[in-house]
Amino acid sequence: MDPRLAIISERLSRVKRVIAVASGKGGVGKSVISTGLALILALKKKYKCGLLDLDFHGPSCHIILGVDKLDIVEEKGIIPPVINGIRFMSIIQFAEDKPVALRGRDISNAIIELLAITRWGDLDYLIIDMPPGMGDEALDTIRLMRNKEFLVITTPSKLSIGVVEKLISFLRSVNADIIGIIENMALSETSIVKEFSSRIGVRYLGKINYDPGLERCLGSVDCLMSTKFIENLQEILENI
Ligand SMILES: Nc1ncnc2c1ncn2[C@@H]1O[C@H](COP(=O)(O)OP(=O)(O)OP(=O)(O)O)[C@@H](O)[C@H]1O
Ligand SMILES: [Mg+2]
Repeated sequence: MDPRLAIISERLSRVKRVIAVASGKGGVGKSVISTGLALILALKKKYKCGLLDLDFHGPSCHIILGVDKLDIVEEKGIIPPVINGIRFMSIIQFAEDKPVALRGRDISNAIIELLAITRWGDLDYLIIDMPPGMGDEALDTIRLMRNKEFLVITTPSKLSIGVVEKLISFLRSVNADIIGIIENMALSETSIVKEFSSRIGVRYLGKINYDPGLERCLGSVDCLMSTKFIENLQEILENI
């Protein structure tokens, strides 16, 4: 057995809640929602919060936070730097701006390595930004984490809902905890996501409207915190 697996449990032993933000579908807002959630928890609610960007092909959280390099401290592993009140870890730690061309088993290995070396310490929340798709490598590795819960994101599009339905049936088949569904980029008052959630018996947590002001605030936390997007997300947080 891989000795790193035992270390991962130890590394996460003082993390109260591990929340993986997932969808299956790409481009639905997983990265802005996971980063926004971590910022609200840390800056507004004063929780100890970590953010882990597990998207090896398209890491985004650092761009949203406005950082290009992480100053890590190496001490019996790696202590993630605190950025805007969040303990932050990302593959950019190792790859910086170079594309990361990893496949299958290599990705599992890199994730195991990342989880095994990162010393999160005491955290109330660890938010994980999941990659699009639900590749075995990401899921296998998430399986290694204790107490993880899934927060599922969809847009109100049939195309997104179709993929999310598959993800939810997969999560159920492995007995994963599902907190509920967030509807993102809503454009109307009526909600097909609400109907979908009740049909499949998963909690509908609320909706985030399409916010045309979000894009110009990516990279500036002060600006981001003043958006309607964050206001909507904060209301939803009461249900999480
Ligand atoms: N509520 C919203 N209003 C306006 N723009 C949004 C909203 N949510 C997300 N976006 C924008 O949509 C784009 C995709 O968001 P994001 O990168 O967070 O999605 P993702 O699910 O993480 O994508 P990927 O699957 O590639 O990782 C970004 O440009 C983001 O700024
Ligand atoms: Mg993303």
